[in-house]
Amino acid sequence: MIIDDPRVAATALLDGALVVLPTETVYGLAGRADDAEAIARIYAVKGRPSQHPVIVHVADADAALDTTGPNAWVSSVPDYARDLASGVWPGPLTLVLARSPRAGDDITGGQDTVALRVPAHPIARSVIGAMDDLDPAGAPHGVAAPSANVFGHVSPTTLAHALDDLSARLTADDVAMDGGPCTIGVESTIVDCTGPQPRVLRPGGISTAQIELITGLATLEPGTSGIRVPGALPTHYAPAATVTLVHDEASLLADIEAAIADGHDPQCIGVIGRVGVTTPAGVELLLVVANDEDYARGLYDALRRADTLGITLIVAILPGPDAHGIAEAIADRLHRAAT
Ligand code: TXA
Ligand code: MG
Repeated sequence: MIIDDPRVAATALLDGALVVLPTETVYGLAGRADDAEAIARIYAVKGRPSQHPVIVHVADADAALDTTGPNAWVSSVPDYARDLASGVWPGPLTLVLARSPRAGDDITGGQDTVALRVPAHPIARSVIGAMDDLDPAGAPHGVAAPSANVFGHVSPTTLAHALDDLSARLTADDVAMDGGPCTIGVESTIVDCTGPQPRVLRPGGISTAQIELITGLATLEPGTSGIRVPGALPTHYAPAATVTLVHDEASLLADIEAAIADGHDPQCIGVIGRVGVTTPAGVELLLVVANDEDYARGLYDALRRADTLGITLIVAILPGPDAHGIAEAIADRLHRAAT
């Protein structure tokens, strides 16, 4: 059922139901983070392997970074993580920190860390805030919310995407909220904050350069940390089509023409290009971007539409060579889609 009262959603969450919830990055499938049954249902509904940890969303940085209160989610926080929290939250950043006893094995994948985020979307914020108001004894409440897609599918950036994947798997007690299209469109940046320097585990809405600027520290590359990040599985964001990546419009056109010369039906070819792109007749323009922000906002919708239209080949232009800002995350998701 689609509802618009955050208190109704908060009550559903407190009672153990699931809520499809908009955030500024992508839609989440939310459940109460300290309710083992709700968490088990999130995994079942998504078809997600149980050892893959989820992100806990809380109302504000104090709620996320408290290490001493009876309801704390984390047990220690380095200074640079506090700097990141005050520089970016609420926003598209997830911090991986040493977990407290409240953060159970079911949300952490049995690891000794927990991932925390303070989302910026007003609906997500008001729902979590309402949980804290309605049940102050449990505050600060945490909402586990993986992206609201079936495991392995592209993340949803509209409520329709989320319900396409999940509506048949939800029950009458579960609810959904419509926040319109997500303004960022790719998931949060995940930063491991358990070592002396930040380590970017997943590029996202906040760039590596911003993290280095805020912390004054050099970031470490992912891969050597031993921390499992299933969103970083190479094929995690793959659509059904083969994806070819090009650096410029000339190669884009050349690739399309070569595919057509090879006998590819133009109507089964989809293109992601920059404003002004010209394509042979019949080819589907999945997304035309003026800048990187447009690209991030439109990418997942374009990949989903390609599947719906039966596109078998996607030719996509990479964001500019200086991968700053959101371009890093776009290039990361494109490379996964092309794997
Ligand atoms: O933008 C986002 O982050 C969205 C919105 C809904 O907040 N959420 C999201 O959740 O992308 P999900 O579950 O699709 O991706 C969470 C990622 C996974 O790759 C998971 O492995 C990683 O976060 N993760 C969660 N807890 C972790 C931990 N303790 N250590 C390392 N990685 C963790
Ligand atoms: Mg996901």
